[in-house]
Amino acid sequence: MTLSELPPSEADRALHPDILSRLTLATVGPPMDRDADRLAAAVGGKVVVITGASFGQGEATARLLASAGATVVLAARTRERLDEIVDEIRTAGGTAHSYRLDLGDMAAVDFFADRVLTDHGRVDILIHNAGKSLRRSVYRSAERMRDMEAMVGVNFLGPMRLTLALLPAMRAAGGGHIINVATAGLWMSPAAPRWGFYLGCKAGFDTWIRSVGMETSADGIDVTSVYAGHIKSRMVATKWVTRVPGHTPAEAAHVLAHAITHRPRALAPRGMAAVRLLGIAFEAPLTIALTLLDRRGVETPASNTAFLRAMAATSAAPGDR
Ligand SMILES: NC(=O)c1ccc[n+]([C@@H]2O[C@H](COP(=O)([O-])OP(=O)(O)OC[C@H]3O[C@@H](n4cnc5c(N)ncnc54)[C@H](OP(=O)(O)O)[C@@H]3O)[C@@H](O)[C@H]2O)c1
Repeated sequence: MTLSELPPSEADRALHPDILSRLTLATVGPPMDRDADRLAAAVGGKVVVITGASFGQGEATARLLASAGATVVLAARTRERLDEIVDEIRTAGGTAHSYRLDLGDMAAVDFFADRVLTDHGRVDILIHNAGKSLRRSVYRSAERMRDMEAMVGVNFLGPMRLTLALLPAMRAAGGGHIINVATAGLWMSPAAPRWGFYLGCKAGFDTWIRSVGMETSADGIDVTSVYAGHIKSRMVATKWVTRVPGHTPAEAAHVLAHAITHRPRALAPRGMAAVRLLGIAFEAPLTIALTLLDRRGVETPASNTAFLRAMAATSAAPGDR
């Protein structure tokens, strides 16, 4: 099967890469791998677990890797959506399996890892793609403790537990590859107001998994951190963000393909190292500027709506915050 036979994801059918995105990403975007043969050689016959495969980059990556001959294991909470994607992949001749997984539920994470190893015997590549972003003031956060716990589950504790559950089998098999989808935001500024939970969880897990990689490389288990830039997924589907140049999920899948075929320790948009250095050099004025900007700031319409919806949904359960 060739990559051109890949059924496009629903998101990608609606999204066409715009000229500005194309130009920006061609100059400063992260490297991508579009070499179908190289990808097939890297993943053909391999078992690849992708968390957060029901939408966005995870879905597109599942489709891409299946078309290159991998056995893809799709995990997320929206089981019906996963089943639809699996059906489409199978119809196109690929091999795919869906599993319901809530990374905020540690017992479910252990159960999932056991099931996958029982059903498929091994995991060759584990892609920590699931994630949830949140832009919210600290005072509002204090009213929504359950959202904070969910953030820590999906972005930090869940992937950590999943890694620990699968590592012994990878080691026994003689090697493997773990890919973490972090965010380029970690390279831009040490901190940003209202993004504390998201950036904190992403930074925490990324530091942990990079440390793990330094230990596991002796056993042939490589770790790659992908510092993703803007992906035009439902995660950032607000009016002004959609205008910012970015990858469609299908393009972002080719960034993960590069991670798989080249196995670097880190993969980031080109020029991010310079941005990082500038961030360190100008940390004090940057912090003051972001702080002052935040004082003028209000919640964006999107984060406001998300907060009000969440409050309304739990107002029926007093004390459940
Ligand atoms: N979009 C961007 O601009 C951008 C930038 C930098 C980094 N990233 C990172 O890229 C990754 C992919 O994001 P995306 O843009 O493709 O967003 P997306 O379309 O919203 O996909 C997120 C995926 O995570 C899954 N997920 C959320 N909570 C989960 C939970 N508790 N347990 C299991 N799965 C869960 C979702 O599935 P269910 O809802 O079905 O569970 C969904 O499949 C994320 O790690 C994100 O932080 C995105």
